[in-house]
Amino acid sequence: MTDREVRQRRGRRVLASVGGAVVLLTACGPENRQNTLRPHGSSAQKILDLFRWPFWIAILIGVLVLGATVFAAIRFRERPGNENPKQVHGNTALEIGWTIVPLLILVVIAVPTVATIWDLAKAPRANALNIRVVGKQWWWEFQYPDQKIVTGDEFHIPAGRQVRLQLTACDPSLGSGAALCNVIHSFWIPELAGKQDVVPGRTQRLVIQADRNTAGRTFLGQCAEYCGLSHARMRLRVKVDAPDKFDEWIASQQQRPDPLFDKRGNATSDAAKLIGKYGCASCHSIDDPSKNSYGPNLAHLASRENFASDSYPLTKENLTRWILDAPSMVPMQTKGCPRGQKPGCVGMPSFTKNLAPGDSPMSTRDAETIASYLLNQK
Ligand code: CUA
Repeated sequence: MTDREVRQRRGRRVLASVGGAVVLLTACGPENRQNTLRPHGSSAQKILDLFRWPFWIAILIGVLVLGATVFAAIRFRERPGNENPKQVHGNTALEIGWTIVPLLILVVIAVPTVATIWDLAKAPRANALNIRVVGKQWWWEFQYPDQKIVTGDEFHIPAGRQVRLQLTACDPSLGSGAALCNVIHSFWIPELAGKQDVVPGRTQRLVIQADRNTAGRTFLGQCAEYCGLSHARMRLRVKVDAPDKFDEWIASQQQRPDPLFDKRGNATSDAAKLIGKYGCASCHSIDDPSKNSYGPNLAHLASRENFASDSYPLTKENLTRWILDAPSMVPMQTKGCPRGQKPGCVGMPSFTKNLAPGDSPMSTRDAETIASYLLNQK
């Protein structure tokens, strides 16, 4: 292979990598619904405003540096008669210059950055809505302490009103022990606000506000800190309601479904019998919308669009499959824990695989009965 061919081949490789990068980056196009460049909330807007002009400064510096590098590489390349170009060393004025200029640029950028950080950390107004967010493996729980409702994967906020999120990775109200304290997650709804780490043993705060004109819209969120097997699937959605619609939603979530069991502990329906048999209620709050639980509260499951951390549309077929064998639909550490939660088991058990001795697999009919019951819980 001649030198020319080697160079041509190298050129083609560079072109292919640039082309590949362009294709990858187009994934950030208008269809992306987690776009920090299209803010719909005041926090996200402030962050974008801060980002915008240093971005162009960075582009300018990047172009200058790359341009100078390419220029020097071409201008002073090795060629006949120029095997060893003139060697130079040291230029005090230049070195002082390129130390001081970046320093000044950073100082100029630091002023609005610090101001924005303080601004975003400000306490919300008194009429802010309170929501407690608990990061779990691998889903988000939303507790509305003043309205006494609990939901998971999907939550509602009123348009144009501040929301004070208190984020935690522990849920001591469920008892004690390591299983109830989780790993580090990061809560992120790109179109509404920046990321906030969710750390065991701490309560973090984040104020979000969706613009007044976003009533009726849904924003998507995502856990942004690696937290184990299903980190990539730890999604969420927030629905923005007009204030009156939001009140309606709260009222419908506060409605208590008929109890699964009567005062003497007898199942009140065929579905309740199965829910008792398979121990669903040991992890899920099913007939009490005000209670938080190890797994998502299912009292109003049917009011949500998707389930399993926004992974699957809530259809009877999907839900039945999920009840039978959830670990086959979302990666979870449930090996050796066929029923209920024991330490070391993270996620929903399979009722058809890894069964304990003596357990028979759940029948599709049983799963369908439970699914139908849950899908009636609007
Ligand atoms: Cu939770 Cu990643």
